Amino acid sequence: MYLNVRLPLPVHSNPGYVLPPRCFRSAQDMARFAARMVSGILQHKEVLDRKELPVERAASREKGQPLCMAQYYRLLSSYRSPGADRDVLVSRLESRGEREGGRSTPPPPGEHVIVACKQKLYCLPVSSPGQGAASEDELTAELLAVMRDAASSPRCPPVGLLTAERRDTWAALRQHLYNDERNARSLKLIEKSLLMVCLDEPLPPSFNGPPRGGAGRDETNMAHQMIHGGGSAANSANRWFDLTVQLVVSPDGACGVCYEHSAAEGVAVVQLAEDVLRRVDATVAGVAGAAGAAAGVAAAEGGPARASRLDWAADQTVEHALRQAAVHIDTLVEDLDLYVYRYLEYGKNFIKSCRVSPDAYIQLSLQLAYYRMYRRLVATYESASTRRYLLGRVDCIRSATAEALAWAAAMCQDETGSEGDEESLLGKKVTFSLHTAEERLMLFEAAIKKQTEIMVDNITGQGIDVHLLGLREMARELGEPVPEIFKDEAYRTANHFGLSTSQVATSLESVMGYGPVVPDGYGASYNPKPDCIVFCLSAFKSCEHTSTARFARSLEESLGAMRQLLGARAP
Ligand code: COA
Repeated sequence: MYLNVRLPLPVHSNPGYVLPPRCFRSAQDMARFAARMVSGILQHKEVLDRKELPVERAASREKGQPLCMAQYYRLLSSYRSPGADRDVLVSRLESRGEREGGRSTPPPPGEHVIVACKQKLYCLPVSSPGQGAASEDELTAELLAVMRDAASSPRCPPVGLLTAERRDTWAALRQHLYNDERNARSLKLIEKSLLMVCLDEPLPPSFNGPPRGGAGRDETNMAHQMIHGGGSAANSANRWFDLTVQLVVSPDGACGVCYEHSAAEGVAVVQLAEDVLRRVDATVAGVAGAAGAAAGVAAAEGGPARASRLDWAADQTVEHALRQAAVHIDTLVEDLDLYVYRYLEYGKNFIKSCRVSPDAYIQLSLQLAYYRMYRRLVATYESASTRRYLLGRVDCIRSATAEALAWAAAMCQDETGSEGDEESLLGKKVTFSLHTAEERLMLFEAAIKKQTEIMVDNITGQGIDVHLLGLREMARELGEPVPEIFKDEAYRTANHFGLSTSQVATSLESVMGYGPVVPDGYGASYNPKPDCIVFCLSAFKSCEHTSTARFARSLEESLGAMRQLLGARAP
């Protein structure tokens, strides 16, 4: 699903996760926060190394079933290596003889992280077998030293930009870089690192147009930063998109994660980030109580951690490739139409009070929003967790059902029997008969029933997409001709996901977003909160038919119409 795709990772694959912004008064505050995050991740890693992460359990529908935890263990131990035809997810666990879900716990070797600052990359050792983990003070001092060095040292080739290229292009360039010993050393350090800490520059508030709801940076602006960095002149070279976890911190307090998707789903990243942020805030509370504990930063002299700048030799081929990569990422960034849209009228509490599954309800609102705009539905992907099975990842809830279509069409008829929206303004008349409120309600109940059934089928392992994918790949591996079904026009249409959706529930005020998966489609993640729903909508500006602003308006109207409809329901 991921490794075969040749498109660049930013926008097309790596999601961005915006954490609640912090408040920094100085560079030291920023370094201290980043150090605390790294310390928190190291503590989390110790739990992983001991294989002691509590097993999660299904919260509903055969409640209590254990969920596979393998992807949580992959988060801090994987690297996506580019290949000419197909990428490889390299696991450091396997190279250490551990197996996913296994019980062996060989002592972890020393760990290091890569720090990116002003497009320069540094290797920072964070733990060693003899001395254990670096202290928070040591890490803070080293991060400050990195910031000083990055500001004063001469230009370094911004090699991180190459990881934003198409996967085949980057694979060839990586091979080329490996021919030089210095480059090979730097690449090996990056590929074996725990994660990357990106000390970014803030994007200007006007980056994505006038800020919505105030003069400062809005959530959409921060989501841009987490998804792609903002372009070659901003932070896109302050990244290494192949790394599973890139922790982003900028001086204005914006922070979050850009993550590579092949190792794990968003759920695992949210769990990691929220767990670490809670540890950080607990430390902050503890430190605030201890008089003087926050004063100053201990010198790192003699400590285990010393950051060193990575060295690169850029020949003409590399310099040319860097210029090309800058043009490509800037075009991609410019093309992304993104909108973090908060629907504030109600959230999952109201939906539950209507005795409807909130997830099924929001899926129908997306179907209605799409129908209102285009007078048709489109192949829709919703990720459904299959972690009830060992090594399960996701299957696809296909929300564009015949029942959803019948209901959406009925909802779009006005009282004269014509379709009351943009296209009816052009005089379009429909031929089907007028629906009463009761009929619309009946159609809604049928659509919800179908949607809920498909959702439950998927999460309990009865989905169709992964099954089909398995058959297709099996045929390939056996060297058999691709079966006819996979060449059928209907198969192509069914997999051109004009709506790519995913519930990403968080307990913090955070939001995760990603780009559309087809040139003429929408990405739509949503986070149902008790009293609001946060959507992250995406599309490409180069497609003249799509617009996240219009889609958000259509969603608002759809969610309003649905509340009205349910108001007519018997208690
Ligand atoms: N009446 C009242 N309440 C209901 C209800 C009904 N008819 N149906 C469900 N609910 C309640 C549930 O009990 C649950 O309660 P809780 O908040 O106390 O836990 C809540 O509503 C939410 O349930 P629902 O909206 O039905 O779905 P879900 O939370 O089980 O989520 C999926 C459904 C498909 C999103 C989820 O199973 C899943 O797979 N998530 C992972 C998606 C993913 O991988 N995302 C990341 C991709 S990068």
